[in-house]
Amino acid sequence: MKYKKVLVRQRGGPEKLEIVEQELRAPLGNEAQIRVLATPVCQDDVAVRVGNRPFLKKTPFTPGYTCIGTVEAVGAEVTAVAVGDRVAALTNYDSHAEVLYWDAAELMPVPETVDPVAAVTLILNYLVAYQILHRVAQVKANDKVLIVGASGGVGTAFLQLGQLAGLKMYGLASSSKQHILNQYGAIPIDYRTQDFVQLLQQAEPDGIDFVFNGMGEEYFGRALAVLRRGGMLVHYGGPQSFGRFLLLVGKLLLGNLLPTGKKIVGYGTHRLGTDLFKKDWATLFDLLAAGKIKPVIAKTLPFSEVIEANRLLENGRITGNLVLTFSENHE
Ligand SMILES: NC(=O)c1ccc[n+]([C@@H]2O[C@H](COP(=O)([O-])OP(=O)(O)OC[C@H]3O[C@@H](n4cnc5c(N)ncnc54)[C@H](OP(=O)(O)O)[C@@H]3O)[C@@H](O)[C@H]2O)c1
Repeated sequence: MKYKKVLVRQRGGPEKLEIVEQELRAPLGNEAQIRVLATPVCQDDVAVRVGNRPFLKKTPFTPGYTCIGTVEAVGAEVTAVAVGDRVAALTNYDSHAEVLYWDAAELMPVPETVDPVAAVTLILNYLVAYQILHRVAQVKANDKVLIVGASGGVGTAFLQLGQLAGLKMYGLASSSKQHILNQYGAIPIDYRTQDFVQLLQQAEPDGIDFVFNGMGEEYFGRALAVLRRGGMLVHYGGPQSFGRFLLLVGKLLLGNLLPTGKKIVGYGTHRLGTDLFKKDWATLFDLLAAGKIKPVIAKTLPFSEVIEANRLLENGRITGNLVLTFSENHE
């Protein structure tokens, strides 16, 4: 029996993505074999394909940062999950496939009651926004924040969780995507045509409490200019090259020596560890099941249209999340 997966043999544009067939095998001792139901395409999938990251997996590789699926077989040592369980995985690579083999101890149980397309956005995008808001920044109601990249997958998660937390939110977004910021009570600023530093300094003369930056370190100077004394910039954008990684590390170190008491803190999902992931995912699944969060799904596309999905995301055509789905019989 065979299954299909995406393969990148050569870095480059979306046309470098191939769908190939592979033989199913028995899972190893600690592994679960998962039939994938939904997997998003995110900016990090694009970055590793293009080669815009300092530390890259060698080609050939299968992209795909996260997925939700059903366990269809387990290895002899597995006790954490059983056949038929619905689970989620944060994989970094490998999820753009009909079948994933993954360490069963790292899987998160997913309630059967939630829609896998909505739920899969919690595994990376909402986790990042939730952990930055509640574990790094530890926001409280009425804090004033600026979200850089507010219309994207992580950005819209910030908008929904920020609204729930009672924050006063400003967000940078191009004009065609600003409706989504208005929907969650955020004040949109078009970073392409407006000077956000000037606008924020007028609107909030005492400065704001937090900036959440999913773009590059070129935002640091302007973010610091709008923060209040003691305010915090949380940076989570992935560096695009080794040179920019070194620049980022230097700026993070220097940023914390500022006499203003303003802080720059870096966030990456590897920072907080699997136990906190599981705790925070459980909170997010509860919020989803209770209807308190409703992920913005711009589009779902069948797995066979992975090239088109990558094109849409790479060309900035997506507001919110883009998710690949699999037909019931996985033809
Ligand atoms: N550290 C981590 O663990 C982690 C995890 C997940 C994601 N990330 C990072 O988070 C970032 C966002 O990821 P994503 O998947 O949410 O991407 P996405 O869905 O493509 O969203 C990015 C958004 O940024 C906006 N944008 C593009 N260029 C901009 C600029 N120069 N200034 C301000 N906004 C700009 C785009 O909308 P407009 O059309 O409005 O410009 C787009 O909606 C990426 O850098 C990714 O690497 C980090």
